[in-house]
Amino acid sequence: MCGIVGHVGDQQATPVLLDGLRRLEYRGYDSAGVAVHSRKGIEIVRAVGKLRNLESALLKDGLPGTVGIGHTRWATHGRPSEVNAHPHVAGPIAVVHNGIIENHSALRNELEASGYSMSSETDTEIIAHLIHRETKSGLDMLSAIRRALSFVEGAYAIAVLSEEEPDRIVVAKNASPLVLGVSKGATYCASDIPALLPYTNEMVFLEDGEIALLEATGFTLSKLDGTPLTRRTRKISWSPVMAEKAGYKHFMLKEIFEQPRALEDTLRGRLDRERADIATPEIGLSDDDAKRIKRIILLACGTSHHATIAGRYWLEELAKVPAITELASEFRGRDAVVGEGDLVIAVSQSGETLDTLMAAKAAKERGAMVLAIANVNGSAIPRMADGSFYTHAGPEIGVASTKCFMAQLANLLMFSIWLGRRRGTIDDAQATELVEGLARIPNQIAERLRETHLMVTDIVRDFSDARDVLFLGRGLSYPMALEGALKLKEVSYVHAEGYAAGEMKHGPIALLDAHVPVVVLMPQDRHYDRVSSNMQEARAREAKIIGVTTEGDKHAQALCDRFVEVAKTHEALSPFVTVVPLQLYAYCVADHKGTDVDQPRNLAKTVTVE
Ligand code: G6P
Repeated sequence: MCGIVGHVGDQQATPVLLDGLRRLEYRGYDSAGVAVHSRKGIEIVRAVGKLRNLESALLKDGLPGTVGIGHTRWATHGRPSEVNAHPHVAGPIAVVHNGIIENHSALRNELEASGYSMSSETDTEIIAHLIHRETKSGLDMLSAIRRALSFVEGAYAIAVLSEEEPDRIVVAKNASPLVLGVSKGATYCASDIPALLPYTNEMVFLEDGEIALLEATGFTLSKLDGTPLTRRTRKISWSPVMAEKAGYKHFMLKEIFEQPRALEDTLRGRLDRERADIATPEIGLSDDDAKRIKRIILLACGTSHHATIAGRYWLEELAKVPAITELASEFRGRDAVVGEGDLVIAVSQSGETLDTLMAAKAAKERGAMVLAIANVNGSAIPRMADGSFYTHAGPEIGVASTKCFMAQLANLLMFSIWLGRRRGTIDDAQATELVEGLARIPNQIAERLRETHLMVTDIVRDFSDARDVLFLGRGLSYPMALEGALKLKEVSYVHAEGYAAGEMKHGPIALLDAHVPVVVLMPQDRHYDRVSSNMQEARAREAKIIGVTTEGDKHAQALCDRFVEVAKTHEALSPFVTVVPLQLYAYCVADHKGTDVDQPRNLAKTVTVE
């Protein structure tokens, strides 16, 4: 996830671009840059790090001109560095891009074979070269972009400048957001509404497969195939604060609702549906490495640790490789036996958590191979690891992790399938079911989100006074129960326990009475009957049961006092759908209590202390 912005009009572009980027910084903040048409041609300034670094660079250099584009980056391809920062240039063309180009490796090879040389590791630079190549055959900027994009597969919102056409910007979109703003004497573009609100509330939303030519007097819209389009502007009545959260009350809620998108971006280009396999060229493990692994140790903290428990179950079931999971702080604090033949998977949203970093380092020093699963490109854990497999959830602002957890689950499952394919432990039919099932998950979540939010809001009204809540699940639902309890503790300060349902009778059952709600996860998997029995045991102690059930499962629903429905999935995929109502439960209780949902007391997003 990155942010793009553009201005063509009668005022100076740079202040508008910087202001817009500041309002888009929530979309990414590892580097930023602007390109402006000046009297000398297109001039570019880029800087690594937060936007203030770009601002300082611009204070020194200045950048006069009224037409320009800007970008704030959240690295996906290529680490955060000045050469990888946007805008990217090829000949007279400068491009900013938000999205992921799926066929970038093939395009890069093709361009390099015909003599183009790349200066960055990004997928975006390829777009710049493709457009440049097309302009060489005499096409104007708009037509060249149309042709160039016909070669591109993936997600993009782009804004392009050409030295040859200094009064214009061309923008185009597929799967990444793009909005135009129109005011007297200026036309704007941005990834999101807040960037434009200080200048205009007259906006136009581009649809996938559309391209627009922006000039100071307005815009011309068409489809990528050239069909002309007309669209009227819409008046946006949001306040700037509402706009930053896209109308959601809190970032946590916004991020819960962003999960289908976060998953889509994380899966993009990695599900090889033709071969029923996973394409992970970036991991850096060969097929032979995959066969040589003797044991996998998954290390993480907090929410990421819960993702690793699901990961362990998947790895053992699908790749038949012994796997253990351990809290990073415990692993590094003892004399763990680890060495050659072990693959350590260090999972961390931030990629900076000190305990995870130190534990993975210690394992590497003793001869283990380390694979990082992180959301922040170029962060400390991927830097020290032998290979990295990034999640593409975009920056997460709420301290309590939601969409990054979802993306971590996706990477752990994809890695398990990848490994299973290489070790010959999953056959074609099984792999097809998993890959196709995974491809359906983002839609399955999206279709139910609003309804689930309403159902959970209603349930929470009846249970908001509960002082203790128990979450139960078996198998893959066990780590989700742990995560449900952690989310509730984190944001609402209500005491909660996540338990393996089979363990209830070994302790927590003593806590049960009519005042303790028990949230039971019961997807229709191999544990269903035993979880039903555990539910009956809790009911017999007068506990109130809130069930997370499969849609239409009347049997389970009859056992519950209240229930939420989730989509029916392949049983290995149930965590993706069962965790959503639990996140919403925590959110709704916290909102009801009026806690500081996005920055709960005593917690920090990134923990770099021991
Ligand atoms: C903190 C955050 C949690 C997160 C944990 C691990 O405690 O508040 O949301 O799960 O750190 O962070 P990581 O960045 O390593 O996933």
